[in-house]
Parts: sequence; structure tokens; C-alpha cells
Amino acid sequence: MNFLPGCWCLAALASVVGALDFQYHNNQQVADFLSAVSSNYSSFTYLHSIGKSVQGIDLWVLVLGRYPLTHKIGIPEFKYVGNMHGDEVVSREVLLHLIDYLVSNFGKDAVVTNLINSARIHIMPSMNPDGFDASLPPDCTFSNGRYNKNGFDLNRNFPDAFIKNTSPIQPETQAVMDWINNETFVLSANLHGGAVVASYPYDNSDGGSTVVNGYSISPDNDVFIHLAKTYSFNHTVMYKGNVCDSTQTFPDGITNGYNWYPVEGGMQDYNYVWGQCFELTLELSCCKYPPPSQLEEFWQENKNALLAYMQQVHLGVKGQVLSADGSPIPNAVVEVEGRSNICSYKTNQDGEYYRLLLPGNYTLKVTAPGSPPLTKTLQVPNGPINFSAMKYDIVIARSGSTSQSNWTESCTTIIGKTITNCPNAALPLHPYLPGLLLLLLCSVYQ
Ligand SMILES: *[C@@H]1O[C@H](CO)[C@@H](O)[C@H](O)[C@H]1NC(C)=O
Ligand SMILES: *[C@@H]1O[C@H](CO)[C@@H](O)[C@H](O)[C@H]1NC(C)=O
Ligand SMILES: *[C@@H]1O[C@H](CO)[C@@H](O)[C@H](O)[C@H]1NC(C)=O
Ligand SMILES: *[C@@H]1O[C@H](CO)[C@@H](O)[C@H](O)[C@H]1NC(C)=O
Ligand SMILES: *[C@@H]1O[C@H](CO)[C@@H](O)[C@H](O)[C@H]1NC(C)=O
Ligand SMILES: *[C@@H]1O[C@H](CO)[C@@H](O)[C@H](O)[C@H]1NC(C)=O
Ligand SMILES: [Zn+2]
Repeated sequence: MNFLPGCWCLAALASVVGALDFQYHNNQQVADFLSAVSSNYSSFTYLHSIGKSVQGIDLWVLVLGRYPLTHKIGIPEFKYVGNMHGDEVVSREVLLHLIDYLVSNFGKDAVVTNLINSARIHIMPSMNPDGFDASLPPDCTFSNGRYNKNGFDLNRNFPDAFIKNTSPIQPETQAVMDWINNETFVLSANLHGGAVVASYPYDNSDGGSTVVNGYSISPDNDVFIHLAKTYSFNHTVMYKGNVCDSTQTFPDGITNGYNWYPVEGGMQDYNYVWGQCFELTLELSCCKYPPPSQLEEFWQENKNALLAYMQQVHLGVKGQVLSADGSPIPNAVVEVEGRSNICSYKTNQDGEYYRLLLPGNYTLKVTAPGSPPLTKTLQVPNGPINFSAMKYDIVIARSGSTSQSNWTESCTTIIGKTITNCPNAALPLHPYLPGLLLLLLCSVYQ
């Protein structure tokens, strides 16, 4: 403890007393705080661990909702994940303050009360507690704490729709994949540091049809741009787009992930392609590990944006696919005309679908096992205003056999050709940048 004279980390690790303070909290303090919250507010919160880090530290998730323990039909699932890169620490504290704000304003503030009553909100302050332990301030740019204890970058460790990712799946990654598989997440954000911007899918590409003018465009690009702008414009400064560095500007404070720099094996694309969950990557601070004196300001900058973004879980349309006798049909494909996802979006075990869409007219196409496709045109209103997506159930008159073989197979297809490592992939986009800088661009930020 004597190797960093004048280090503020000792004060930073002072114990949590009463209301949450604006200091950094170590892994034990985070666990203690979450545990106190869950016992003080047990009627609408639930604390659980979704797995353990390499070092054996629990990956805690606090759930808030009218029914915090389980999914209920019609209630969308939302998540925030912080501190995936262990040295990007602002999100970890901002999420603790978000929890503090939500629990202390439930029943008092209308927006907070409506959010908790209308959605099930999952908050994981740290996905990489080992990396946090390995991070030492001051660290504005980069440190080994970015990685997990085995030296892997967790945001390069997920299956990738465009390339074959050979990086061995780490315990933290596996826990998150299992969690995504267990819950019907609809909307999510993954919080980072090193820039101030809202980044949206795709993060990667195979250089094929998704790429338009250097952007890797998903079928839900309009929704993603809306989501990113909801965050950046409700943030006190992000929308300005030049918060950190005047040489790197982001119009409206948003960027397509791939257009910024390609990421292979990122969590954002994984959520969107395999998890049926729309995810953004939110970069909250220029400096990854700033002094604790700035934490209150970061909370104030992000508070409204975090709340406004959660409310977007109510975009679009939701409902159940049911058979004529009213029983739910799992694994029915629910598509929106003109938006074919890489892996078809399917109903969950309760026959439910959730489809984030901007207000407008859309044609739903529903294909259930053993039945011909059914289409229906819907006029979708602005759901977030009322804290509910439009509800629309679809009844399928089944015919023929209901062989499940086509529907239970998981979507593991690797589309397109393999691309090489990040620097090479980025070269055609930035032919003027030296290789070293590319390597930095590809490894440092997210
Ligand atoms: C939980 O309640 C106790 C007793 O009222 C209080 O001292 C403590 O600050 C509360 N903690 C949290 C995190 O709400
Ligand atoms: C997923 O659900 C199973 C069955 O309920 C449970 O045993 C497991 O712990 C869950 N895993 C995660 C990561 O949520
Ligand atoms: C802020 O978020 C709200 C949703 O809560 C949205 O209606 C509004 O347009 C956003 N503000 C801006 C300036 O984008
Ligand atoms: C959607 O359809 C309704 C009637 O079916 C029509 O009145 C409305 O103008 C349409 N909206 C858009 C944005 O096309
Ligand atoms: C919101 O709810 C009100 C009252 O139920 C309804 O009149 C209005 O049409 C709804 N607005 C939207 C955009 O769904
Ligand atoms: C199921 O898969 C087989 C083989 O790929 C295909 O021929 C058949 O049309 C599929 N059935 C449905 C209902 O999509
Ligand atoms: Zn990061």
C-alpha cells in the first residue's frame, strides 16, 4: 500500500456508510451494498449471482421490478452491464448510483415508479471484478486490468456472426451467455470508458453486404440510431460529439460500431444476433479511471440518459403466439417485413415475442411449426410514452405435423468469409494510418 505516495485509492476504498458515497467501491463493498439494497427493498428487488470470475468472485446482478424473481408474460426484460473492461471503472460506480436512485425514488418519482412497474430491470455493476482488482489509478488510457484474470479481453470473447472466433470462452463470458439464454432480454447497454459516445451494431462485418460506405448496417439501423440518440441527447454533453478530442468527432454523439473500428467477438453483436436483444455500447468517460472527485459529475451527466434509455424497452410491439386453444407456441419465428435478422427471432417458452420498432406501419410475418406463415399489418404507436409497447397476440390455426426439428436448432451459422485480424480489416478504411495506431484503435477503446 506504500508504493503510490499520495494515492487517493485508500480514501476511495473507505467503507460504505449510509447513502452511497461518490468513491470507488471494491468488490466486497459492491457486494455489501447490493446485499443491503436487496434486503432493504426486498419487495421489488432481487440479488443473484450469475456465475463467478476466474478468481472466484461472484458476478452480481440486482433485479428490480414488480415481480423481481421471475419473468412475467408481457413484462419486458432490460439490462445494464458495467465494467466489462476492468480498468473502465466509471460505469461501475454510475450503475451503483443508478441502483441507489431507483430504489430510493420508487413510489415517489413517477418515471422511476413507472419504469420499475412496467419492466424487469437487471443491473450488473461489474462483469470483470478481477480486472477491477488488477487496475490501479491513475489510468486514463489503458492497463492490463482491461482483461480478465486469464488475460482475455471479454469484449472480444463472444461468438461472432461474421468470423469464427477461436478465443476460448472465458467464465465471465459463459456466465453472460447463459444469462442471455435464460432471460428474454429485449434491450440492453454495455457500459465502457475511454471515449464519450453511444455506439450501435454492427461492430463487425465480413466485408460483405452489411457494409455501406464503411458502416456495417443492421436491418434495425433506424431503431439503433434512435436508441443511440435517445442516450446521447438525454446526456448532458454526449450529443456534442467532441467531448474528449476535437480531432475525433462523433456527429450527434453516436457512431456505428464498425465505422468507428471493427470489433470481433464483441458482446453487442452477440446480444443482437443471438440474444434477440438490442444492445448499445455506451462510452461514458474520456479517462478510463478518473479521480473519484469526478464521480458525482459523471453520475449527473448520465442520470437522465440512463432513465430515458430504459424507457425505450417499450418501443414497438409485443405479444404471444398462441394456438387456437390458447396454448402458447414456443419457437415460432416472428419477423418484420424488410428486416431479416441473421438468426431469426423466435418466441420464448411462453410463446412471447418482443419487437422494438419506431412508430409506423409494419407487416409481421409469423411462422409456427407445422403451419403456413401468417402476415398481419400493424400500426405501431409510440410505446415508451405510455410505458408499454403495443400489445398484439397472434392466434395460429395449426395444421399438419408439428415436427420441431427445424425450430429447435440454434443459429450457429457463421455467415460469409473469414476476415483477418483487426488491423488488416481496418486497413482499407484507414489506409493513411500507421499499423501501430490501428492496433491501438482496435484494442484500446471499447
Ligand atoms: C439499509 O437499511 C439500513 C437500516 O435502515 C440503513 O442503515 C442502510 O443505510 C440501508 N442501506 C441501503 C443500501 O439502502
Ligand atoms: C439459468 O437457468 C438455470 C435453470 O433455471 C439455472 O440453474 C442457472 O443458474 C441460470 N444461469 C444463469 C446464468 O442465469
Ligand atoms: C430523451 O428521452 C426521451 C425518452 O425518455 C425522449 O422522448 C426524448 O426525445 C429524448 N430527448 C432527446 C433530446 O432526444
Ligand atoms: C399507417 O396506416 C394508417 C391506416 O392503415 C394510415 O392512416 C397511416 O397514415 C399510416 N402511417 C404511415 C406512417 O404510413
Ligand atoms: C397512451 O395511452 C393513452 C391512454 O391509455 C392513449 O389514449 C394513447 O393513445 C396512448 N398513446 C400511445 C402513443 O400509445
Ligand atoms: C425444414 O427443413 C427442411 C430441410 O432443410 C426443409 O426442406 C423444410 O422445408 C423445412 N420446413 C419448414 C417448415 O421450414
Ligand atoms: Zn471498454
